[in-house]
Amino acid sequence: MNKRFNLPLCLPIEKITSEGLGTITLSFTIPSVLQTQPLPGQYFMIWNPGDDEIPISISNFDSNNSISFTICSEGETSNNLTKKNKSKLIGLRGPFGNGFDIVEKETAVLVAGGMGIAPLRYLIYYLLRRKNIKIILIYGAKVEKELFFKTELDNLSIEKHFCTDDGSIGYKGFPTEILDNLLKTTLEKKSTEIYACGPELMLKAILGVVKRYSLERFTQFSLADRYIRCGFGICGSCTLDDQGLTICHDGPVFRGDLLLNVKDFGLFGRKSDGSKFKL
Ligand SMILES: Cc1cc2nc3c(=O)[nH]c(=O)nc-3n(C[C@H](O)[C@H](O)[C@H](O)COP(=O)(O)OP(=O)(O)OC[C@H]3O[C@@H](n4cnc5c(N)ncnc54)[C@H](O)[C@@H]3O)c2cc1C
Ligand code: FES
Repeated sequence: MNKRFNLPLCLPIEKITSEGLGTITLSFTIPSVLQTQPLPGQYFMIWNPGDDEIPISISNFDSNNSISFTICSEGETSNNLTKKNKSKLIGLRGPFGNGFDIVEKETAVLVAGGMGIAPLRYLIYYLLRRKNIKIILIYGAKVEKELFFKTELDNLSIEKHFCTDDGSIGYKGFPTEILDNLLKTTLEKKSTEIYACGPELMLKAILGVVKRYSLERFTQFSLADRYIRCGFGICGSCTLDDQGLTICHDGPVFRGDLLLNVKDFGLFGRKSDGSKFKL
């Protein structure tokens, strides 16, 4: 069992990397109280002292206990975090949630949309250590400059398919179209596990594609596009109707066969007051 910090552990920012468009990656060295490595897909609650606390996926973790979080400026707290200087103290609580189930199959297909690349970046490095898994990344964004880590990803020896809505780089269209095409042509379905993270409407479309190939059981979705408050399943802010699953504790990663039976998936999100809104 992994140990986690239930109370924020304040650590100094060791490194800040700009990823463009005001998005930054913050790196910290965490003490070795974590007995095992956190899983890709798990998240930490990141507390900006004097401000608020927000859920952020692990975007990398290495053998030197260096952990990274990539934060894009969406509102007040995330924006304040992107303006921090090196050595400033930040509170970390976690790791929380169920991460990706790492399956030893021949091929791992990773499908990312926008900031959904953050947990999948850590998954890429995690899988690269398992030398026998072929990694195929499909990564889409609205425009070229919103493809985070593009140069870093270009330098990795994995198969990559980039796409943009406006065709400014890569295929002009959506990640779902590339996935559908690969499943139709080259992918050996029995030996493929699919991992996806991005906007929920994209995840819903992916579920539609994989269902056509009866791969919903072998596709894992990170619902990191949802609202999380407490992080450990007690406040109800992140409940998925009508199964009563919590994103923060039961997720954020769920398999497609389970999501097929979740009425809210791809239809309704929840605001911070718990009320629903149409996606
Ligand atoms: C499991 C998980 C992993 C995430 N990983 C990342 C990541 O790696 N990088 C990243 O940039 N963002 C990530 N997010 C989203 C990030 O938590 C929100 O962008 C952030 O909380 C916005 O807070 P704010 O105060 O800056 O914005 P606000 O002004 O409060 O809101 C801006 C937007 O962010 C949403 N939001 C606000 N608070 C939360 C919250 N507590 N949880 C989720 N969404 C919220 C709001 O619904 C709104 O759409 C993740 C979210 C979840 C649930
Ligand atoms: S955020 Fe509190 S139950 Fe999930």
